[in-house]
Amino acid sequence: MYLRNSAPTALLALLAPLASAFYLPGMAPASYEPGMKVPLFVNSIKPVAAPQDARLHSVVSYDYYHPFFQFCKPDGGPQYVPESLGSILFGDRIMTSAFDLRMKHNETCKALCSVKYQEKSVDFVSERIEQGYSLNWLVDGLPAGQQIQDQLTGTTFYSPGFLLGQDDEAGNILFNNHYDIWVEYHEVGGNANQLRVVGVVVQPTSKKYDGEADCGDNYPSLVFAKGSGPQEVKFSYSVYWIKSPTAWATRWDKYLHVFDPKIHWFWLVDTAIIVVILVLTVMSILIRTLKKDIARYNRLDQINLDDLSGTSVLEDGVQEDSGWKLVHGDVFRTPSRPLLLSILLGNGAQLFVMTGFTIVFALLGFLSPSNRGSLGTIMIILYTVLGIVGGYTSARAYKAMQGEQWKLNIALTPLLVPGIVFSAFFLLDLFLWAKESSGAVPFTTMLVIIGIWFVISIPLSFTGSWLGFKAAQIENPVRTNQIPRQIPPVTTYLQPIPSMLIVGLLPFGAIFVELYFIMSSIWFSRIYYMFGFLFLCYGLMIAVCGAVTILMTYFLLCAENYNWQWRSFLAAGMSGGYVFLNCLLYLVTKVKLGGLAGTVLYIGYSALISFLFFILSGTIGYFASWWFVRKIYSSIKID
Ligand SMILES: *[C@@H]1O[C@H](CO)[C@@H](O)[C@H](O)[C@H]1NC(C)=O
Repeated sequence: MYLRNSAPTALLALLAPLASAFYLPGMAPASYEPGMKVPLFVNSIKPVAAPQDARLHSVVSYDYYHPFFQFCKPDGGPQYVPESLGSILFGDRIMTSAFDLRMKHNETCKALCSVKYQEKSVDFVSERIEQGYSLNWLVDGLPAGQQIQDQLTGTTFYSPGFLLGQDDEAGNILFNNHYDIWVEYHEVGGNANQLRVVGVVVQPTSKKYDGEADCGDNYPSLVFAKGSGPQEVKFSYSVYWIKSPTAWATRWDKYLHVFDPKIHWFWLVDTAIIVVILVLTVMSILIRTLKKDIARYNRLDQINLDDLSGTSVLEDGVQEDSGWKLVHGDVFRTPSRPLLLSILLGNGAQLFVMTGFTIVFALLGFLSPSNRGSLGTIMIILYTVLGIVGGYTSARAYKAMQGEQWKLNIALTPLLVPGIVFSAFFLLDLFLWAKESSGAVPFTTMLVIIGIWFVISIPLSFTGSWLGFKAAQIENPVRTNQIPRQIPPVTTYLQPIPSMLIVGLLPFGAIFVELYFIMSSIWFSRIYYMFGFLFLCYGLMIAVCGAVTILMTYFLLCAENYNWQWRSFLAAGMSGGYVFLNCLLYLVTKVKLGGLAGTVLYIGYSALISFLFFILSGTIGYFASWWFVRKIYSSIKID
C-alpha cells in the first residue's frame, strides 16, 4: 500500500506489508476469459467539489436511476446488488446497468438508448451539473475513475467517479452522453485465458448527435441550459481494453493516492514532537512537585506525631493548611448526577474500545477499500458487541460513586446515548427522504439496526452491568467526611468555562490535521486509507487528553476544589466542541450549500459526530484524572 513508499518511521514500515497481506472471503480475484461478460454496476450519483470553485455545493446524493436523470436501464429493469450493512449506511446503492463489457473485446461505438428529456428533467440535470455531481460506476468491483496528474509529484492516479457534465469556455452547461471506457487488464502468469481487471478510467464527453449515435468527433456539445425546453439525448459508449503490468493485488494502489504525503508527514511529526515535549515537560514538573508535596505531607505527619510528645512546631502546623491534602475528606464524595455521569462513562468506554479495535483492524489490512463498506460494518459489529464493556464500566463507576438507582443505570446505559444518536440520525434521514436522496437509509435497514440493537446490544449491555454490579466495590484510598467542605472561590482560569476552553484545545490540536482528511473523505467522497496516521493521532490524542486533564485536576485540588469528576469530564470533552467548531469553519471555507436542507444535514451530522467525540474524550479525561487522584491520595498518610 502507499504507506510502504512514504512512511519514514520504523513502526509503520513494519506494519505496512501486513496491509496487503490479507484478503477476506468475497474479495478473491475474479478471472475472465476473453469474451466473457465483465459486470459494470452503477452506484449512487454523488456531489463532489464543483469544478469552478472546488467547493462542495450539496450533500444530497441520488439513485443512478432517479427518474429525472433518465439514464438507460438494462433489459428487465435494474436490480439491486447485495451489499453489506456498512456499505448501505455509508450511502452505496449499487445496481445493474445496461452496459455490455466483454473481456478484451474493443467496442468503438455502441449506442445505448435514446431518451427524451422533459423541461423539468433538463432543469434538474443542469442544476446537478452546476453543483458538480459525479457518476460512480464499478467494473469488477473497481471504481471507474478519472486519471489525474499530481502537480507536485508528477505521478498519475485515479480519482473515483467522473463528472455528470461540465461547462465550456462560454459558460454553457454541457451534459455528458458519451463514455469512453478504458479498462486495464492483467494476464495472470502470462496466461491469455486468465484475465483480471486492474484499472478503469472513464472519459465522458458531450455530443449532440443529429442522426445515429456514431461517436464522431465533429458533433457540437449537448447544452443543457435551464429553461431551454425538452431535449432529445442519445447515449453511447466505447470500450478499450489495455494490457497492463499491474498485478491484481496492487490494483487499488492508484486509487489510494494521497496528495503529497510528505506534507502530511511533516505536519504529523511536527505536532507529535511538540505534543510529546509538552506532555513530558509538564508531567515531569508535576511529578517533581507531587513528590515534594507528598514528602512534605508525610514529614508533617511525623512532626505532628512528635507534637503529641511535647515538641511544638507551630509554623509547620500552619503550613499544613494548604494544598491538595486538605480536600482528602471530599475528593471521593459522590458527584452531582452520578447516574448521568456513569452512563456517559460507560458509553465513552464502549466508543473508546470500538475506535481502538477499528483502527487496529484497519492497520492490519482487514478494512481494505476493495471490501466495500467493511469499515462501517466492522464499526457496527464492534459497537454492538462492546455493549458489554459499556454496561460493565457504567455499573462499576456507578457503584464506586455509591449510586443507588442501579436499575435505572442498567436500563439507561444502552438506551440513552444510542437513543439520542439514533433519533438524530432518523430525523436527518427524514430530510434526505424529503429530498428523494439515495443517501436516505432504507426503512428495512433501519429495522435491521433496531433489531441488532435490541437483540444483541442491549442484552450484552445488561450482562456487562450485571457483572459490574456483582464485582467488588472499588475501595477509595481515603475516607469521605460526613460534612462537605466549603469550596473557596478559584482564580479565573480554573473556572469551569475557561478551564474547559484551555483543556479541550490540546487534544483537538493532536487530531486537527487528521480531521481535515477525514472530513474531505466524508464530504468529498475521497477514499480514506491513512490508518497509520490515524493510529498515531489516536495515540497522541489519548496521551494529550489524559495529561492536560490530570494537570487541571491537580490545580483544581490545590485550589481546594474537589469537584474534579464532572470538571475533568467536561473539560476533556470540550475537544468535541472544538471538533464541531472546526466543522463549522469547514462549512464556511470549503462548502457552499445552497438550500436549507443541505445546511441542516451538514450541521446535523457534524453535531452527531462531535457529540460522540465529546463522550469519548470526556471519558478519557475522567479516567486519567480518576487514576491520578487515587494515586496521589493513596501515597499520603492520613490520620
Ligand atoms: C483496444 O484498443 C486500444 C486503443 O486503441 C488498443 O491499444 C488495444 O490494443 C485494443 N485492444 C484489443 C484487444 O484489440
